[in-house]
Amino acid sequence: MYSDKVMDHFTNPRNVGEIDKADGVGEVGNASCGDIMKIFLKVDDKGVIEDVKFKTFGCGAAIATSSMVTEMAIGKTLAEAEELTNEAVAEALDGLPSQKMHCSNLAADALHAAIKNYRETHNL
Ligand code: FES
Repeated sequence: MYSDKVMDHFTNPRNVGEIDKADGVGEVGNASCGDIMKIFLKVDDKGVIEDVKFKTFGCGAAIATSSMVTEMAIGKTLAEAEELTNEAVAEALDGLPSQKMHCSNLAADALHAAIKNYRETHNL
């Protein structure tokens, strides 16, 4: 029921962990299942995302989408990363089963929350 890409990112997630002295941190939770995702950003002085790490307490689809969103965000400007949608993350994983689509919401939402936190703490 899961694509090879989902299984790959679930069994071998990229960019797991925390960034010490992160420039932005975002955390979101899914009220229906109780899963939590936290994203840490490192942003250079040109507003390009240099590094992203994540910690997710959640299901396999949440882990896979976290991993994918970190790969998609690294190297993007903050404005470009803000355009990343939950659907784009799910598509990059070759789709998710319909009953698991809500899990992908956490990934882009956590990224956007981290960008918002970055902007707020840097007065942008
Ligand atoms: Fe909670 Fe997937 S079941 S995020």
